[in-house]
Amino acid sequence: MSASPSRVAVFGAGYVGLVTGACLAELGHSVVVRDVLPERIAALRRGEVPIYEPGLADLIARNRERLAFTTDVAEAIDSADYVYVAVGTPPTYSGDADLSAVWMVIDELPAIDGRCVVVMKSTVPVGTGLRVRHRLDERGLEQVGYASNPEFTAEGTAVADFFRPDRIVVGSFRDEDGDAVVALHRGIEGPVVRCDVASAEMIKLAANAALMTRISFINEIANVCEATGADVVRVAEGIGLDRRIGPSFLRAGIGFGGSCFPKDSLALKQLAANSGYHFQLLNAVIEVNELQKRRVIGKLHRHLGPLRGKRVALLGLAFKPHTDDMREAPSLVLAGRLLAEGADVRAWDPVVDGHDLHGVEIANSPEAAADGADAVVVVTEWPQLADVDWAVVGRTMRTPVLIDGRNFLDPELIQAAGFRYEGIGRAADTRGV
Ligand code: UDX
Repeated sequence: MSASPSRVAVFGAGYVGLVTGACLAELGHSVVVRDVLPERIAALRRGEVPIYEPGLADLIARNRERLAFTTDVAEAIDSADYVYVAVGTPPTYSGDADLSAVWMVIDELPAIDGRCVVVMKSTVPVGTGLRVRHRLDERGLEQVGYASNPEFTAEGTAVADFFRPDRIVVGSFRDEDGDAVVALHRGIEGPVVRCDVASAEMIKLAANAALMTRISFINEIANVCEATGADVVRVAEGIGLDRRIGPSFLRAGIGFGGSCFPKDSLALKQLAANSGYHFQLLNAVIEVNELQKRRVIGKLHRHLGPLRGKRVALLGLAFKPHTDDMREAPSLVLAGRLLAEGADVRAWDPVVDGHDLHGVEIANSPEAAADGADAVVVVTEWPQLADVDWAVVGRTMRTPVLIDGRNFLDPELIQAAGFRYEGIGRAADTRGV
């Protein structure tokens, strides 16, 4: 519990805003979450949580007394000590981050008598904080503080990540604003990194770029493993035990997706380019990822020949397990490519509804998706897939071929169940090809 509960306004009721608001309420603060979408606010007021994030619904229910939802700016700001900006910053056509929602929040701030701190949680290009500072000053809000407090929570584990952070990063122009943001987090254990605003902004972009680089690196190693007969799972284990390298983010697969990595890599690439620097490594990371999403198609060709008229089951649609987020999900590229090749596509996901995926038939279980299929593709490593009786499923398929896009299932078990199994970066089982 914080020693002195504060009043916090959070602008944006998306994944970041809701998690931030609910977690700050859990720390004992009074939080008002404001969004421009009336239906979203109405649902939250009814106790419905519009996104799937483990633990979030419980947290919101438990903190009802300290957590309010509104569309009204004045109601949100009313005597707030902190104004968190947690709105979306999607890429524009040019690849730059679209900051219109951020500027809307800054421009909508009413005349504020007391002192409060605007805290940037949205991911923004380096230099945004300085521009916001100038805008606040122009508007006569010199006494309003400003701090950058980037978020590093991952979807699916966001609530746990918030309370057990690897670090809390706080960048500010004035020490007292940074002190105030650190004080708000009292009760959470974790190293605090204090710095200037530009560095805090860059820490967020650079952390994501480092993680993406590891994924594209291991994916390229996987592709070379395939060509040379090595097994990337063993290779990742072998290199990850080197303390200088570490084991995380070395899972080879069909590429990264989600609301952060694809968008933030473009934003950083563009930020560098706008400053006259060609960020070669990041460009390669992005391109490797695009190609990686399509590799499954080549594998299917090898096993099935032309895909016209073939039925392919996609198991998992969300960009990763434990979320309903479909933003930049590899499943979207895969489904699109398969449909373009003339395949029949049936898909299953335990939380994504998928009914807006035109041309894709949605099944209500992995078994139903696989029934009569020529191949199944594990797209998202949902734990439910480990409990499937693959021997039974294989018997219902036209040809029992399983492409494991996440190296999630045990190849020996799947082969023992009668399948031809192929993962990513592991020796393929080519019996009968
Ligand atoms: C990420 C960052 O982890 C988080 O710190 C930041 O705040 C937001 O972006 P998120 O997008 O929720 O979080 O998911 P994450 O678990 O990082 O996975 C991102 C993508 O990388 C997923 O598509 C996942 O399948 C893929 N991934 C991850 C791999 O392909 N291999 C890995 O080893 C790890």
